[in-house]
Amino acid sequence: YTVSFDAKDMEKGTYPHYMIKEIDEQPAVIRRLLQNYTGKDGKLATDTAIAEALNAADRLYIVACGTSYHAGLVGKHLLEKIAGIPTEVHISSEFSYNMPLLSKKPLFIFISQSGETADSRAVLVKVKKLGYPTLTMTNVEGSTLYREADYKMLLYAGPEIAVASTKAYTAMIAVFSVMAATLATAKGLTLGFDPVHEMSLAALAMEQMIDEKAQLQEIARDYLSITRNAFYIGRGLDYYVCMEAALKLKEVSYIQAEGFAGGELKHGTIALIEDGTPVLAFATQEAVNDHIRGNVQEVAARGAHTCVISMKDVTDRPGDSIILPKVHEYFTPLVCAVPLQLIAYYAALQNECDVDKPRNLAKSVTVE
Ligand code: AGP
Repeated sequence: YTVSFDAKDMEKGTYPHYMIKEIDEQPAVIRRLLQNYTGKDGKLATDTAIAEALNAADRLYIVACGTSYHAGLVGKHLLEKIAGIPTEVHISSEFSYNMPLLSKKPLFIFISQSGETADSRAVLVKVKKLGYPTLTMTNVEGSTLYREADYKMLLYAGPEIAVASTKAYTAMIAVFSVMAATLATAKGLTLGFDPVHEMSLAALAMEQMIDEKAQLQEIARDYLSITRNAFYIGRGLDYYVCMEAALKLKEVSYIQAEGFAGGELKHGTIALIEDGTPVLAFATQEAVNDHIRGNVQEVAARGAHTCVISMKDVTDRPGDSIILPKVHEYFTPLVCAVPLQLIAYYAALQNECDVDKPRNLAKSVTVE
């Protein structure tokens, strides 16, 4: 099979680690991806066969692991809100024995940076046997999941070497945006915004956050240098971002971290909050801004060391620790990804961890 990566893309250059190089590459990845998915008419498009297959489905089932699963949760939000198609997201390793009742015309979407994840492949094999259409979204052309699916969408992220996935995550979210926009157009829906323009603005905002490394390193020092645990909280799309933020922090810095839906705190987890417990809140969603702020106050009153990450002119309030540039509400996860990744990166450096090769982890998990 063909691997369309350039050897020089595999080098670290002047970067100390692949992870930071790959974080920095994200705006360029989004721009390249937009180019690759823009038709002659300047509109985002998948190829026609994919658009038809998506349009023929009555429900989409996204199946993935780890960071790709988290991208899938954002993807579900985009597909349902932009294209109005019911979408479910499942963890690959659970799906086989915990298979939901399927709709009449399902389409399965496998998301995998490597295209080699055994848990996801097991589901692909199973649903193919049942005769359902399958689509793989991957970074590796020619990988197993790429070859075995009926339809394929590439991430165009270039080789991702660090074990912790960064640029593939944001590329997956961007491909879901393309998919949602294409499907909406195929269904004759009015988008109400220009996705290419809004995603280009998001790429610019990501660049601006990449320039804030010193600030994010300071946040990692202030909040995460002497702690064994940390919490991320958010609501709506921010909740999904929090799950990814916690995973990234765990895998590279070994700090025990959890991402929670803000409203769930009082149903148990708040018992863990004590003096100095770091709680980082993503507050980028206007509709739930007051609610997440309420959760921040609840944990602060119990001694938590709180950090609020909000969006300029939309949700920001005096005293917030990190203010992200304004982007369309659907594309906030692209921008949030940068601070969550950089905070994890600097926390890992502080803890003298092997950033690119965390203990016990492999880049491709090829066993079930
Ligand atoms: C991400 O940082 C992890 N290393 C891991 O969760 C990864 O996303 C997961 O193993 C899925 O891999 P894939 O995208 O190659 O299928």
